[in-house]
Amino acid sequence: MAAIETPDVKTPTTEPLAIETLVAELRVKHAAASQGGGEKFRTRHAERGKWFVRERIEFTLDPGTAFLELSPLAANGLYGGEVPGAGIVTGIGLIHDRPCMIIANDATVKGGSFFAETVRKHARAQEIAQENRLPVIYLVDCGGAFLPEQDRVFPDKDHFGGAFWRQCQMSAQGLPQISVVFGGCTAGGAYIPALSDQVIMVRGTGRIHLGGPPIVKAAINEIVDGETLGGADMHTGVSGVSDHVAADEESALRKLREIVAHLGEGRRIAPPPLAPVPPLPTTGDPSAHAPVDLKRPADMRALIRSMVDGSQLSEFKPDYGATLIAGFAHIHGYPVGILANDGALFSESSLKGAHFIELCDQRQIPLLFLQNITGFMVGTAAERGGIAKHSAKLVYAVSNARVPKLTVIVGGSYGAGNYGMCGRGFRPRFLFSWPNARIATMSPDVASTVVTELRRASLKGAASEADITELDRRTRAQFEEQSDPYYATARLWDDGIIEPDQTRDVLGLCLALSAGEAQDTGPRPVYRM
Ligand code: COA
Repeated sequence: MAAIETPDVKTPTTEPLAIETLVAELRVKHAAASQGGGEKFRTRHAERGKWFVRERIEFTLDPGTAFLELSPLAANGLYGGEVPGAGIVTGIGLIHDRPCMIIANDATVKGGSFFAETVRKHARAQEIAQENRLPVIYLVDCGGAFLPEQDRVFPDKDHFGGAFWRQCQMSAQGLPQISVVFGGCTAGGAYIPALSDQVIMVRGTGRIHLGGPPIVKAAINEIVDGETLGGADMHTGVSGVSDHVAADEESALRKLREIVAHLGEGRRIAPPPLAPVPPLPTTGDPSAHAPVDLKRPADMRALIRSMVDGSQLSEFKPDYGATLIAGFAHIHGYPVGILANDGALFSESSLKGAHFIELCDQRQIPLLFLQNITGFMVGTAAERGGIAKHSAKLVYAVSNARVPKLTVIVGGSYGAGNYGMCGRGFRPRFLFSWPNARIATMSPDVASTVVTELRRASLKGAASEADITELDRRTRAQFEEQSDPYYATARLWDDGIIEPDQTRDVLGLCLALSAGEAQDTGPRPVYRM
């Protein structure tokens, strides 16, 4: 009898947890990740007189202003849990009122060296900066590629080289690239400051060298100490790689703020066209409407009302394609066109979605997708009704909309529904998940049925019932594990898991970043679908 081979995964619990429990778990994970590489490396770091990465960021940003951290749980659970946050902190904050992207290595995690997820997080932050035309501030403390993982970090298009390519592109596009060097920056770590427009180095700890002392000894048998080879005074006074030397971290960061203050006009956050109005208190908090049990229908209108200004949603085609809610609203005073699932996507709801997207594209209103989707409708009636082509129209409209798109996975994100509702492949400017989210081709229940039926058919009755039962168990367990939001966020399938009750503020910032952008004024047809 043929062996049944599937990954060996633990059997998880299937009972949905309350949203309060899920949010508490998220906070615990965020707090743990923010401790970086753990006590031993934190102590050593502090003993060298170095600040922790979050202290550097806090000092860099305008006092009392928010920092929208991106993917704080990248690499969560990977590499035996030894690379929290993928060893890098990225996010958007204000310096002299100007929104900036911060990309900061955490040297307490494997010397700030780059794993595959580190590269992806670094490159994703650059991509967001480029799309939103933000200056990029690199707080560099980085040992280059993590050498045992070099084949997953170094050679490919979207590996380390791609990040440098993007850095050069952004600089040429007038997006300032500024580095402050706090620690030993070798090889790839050296290129981050070397390719920056302006560089500050901290005396005593900051070093830049393409090859550190061990490499120099191995390559040309020269014995040299790190300070002579690549210290701050040498690079600022002799090689000219650095533009400023600072006596300590505080003065380096003060100099950084001074540089940003002189960047010229640049982009500021555009004020909202309408005065922001909070949602009505009677709508309750968004967390009260979070679809934690994906087998039960959620009140998506209540969820929308709990997040938009004045709880006002001007619905589009409310009597047609009822499983997709579409409508115009404002969040923190910025206009937005919202699409939210209220059941599976049928042909009618797909056509309504495509029509609405075209309207928003023509009116230059950013789109917000609230995903809670099991997929497009299947079955004879749906196929005869042309679900394949009608769903494709929605996917087509999503792909070609030129307005900024934002996606929040507030519940399930299954199958092609993920595509039609602007999943990661459709390049939303930001994509966040809630802690109750689930992301997979299909649910564990459906997957186990499909896989066991396929197996039954291929073995033509040769599989025992015990084999099939075991296959069912393993398939369920695999899909449970892989559709978990922490599995997804560890792999950078989103820009982070956010709390439901923070979502309105996060979206307000995302909309503010794109407001006031120069618009593409080419023709934007609207086809009545
Ligand atoms: N690849 C693999 N491991 C690395 C690494 C890299 N590029 N950089 C640091 N590490 C590891 C160290 O082996 C150590 O791991 P361990 O605790 O499991 O032994 C941990 O990260 C901390 O490094 P350590 O050297 O103790 O920290 P430090 O703060 O004293 O020095 C650096 C930091 C980055 C200056 C130093 O680690 C270094 O020079 N690394 C090598 C840089 C290099 O040659 N890069 C070339 C990449 S192409």
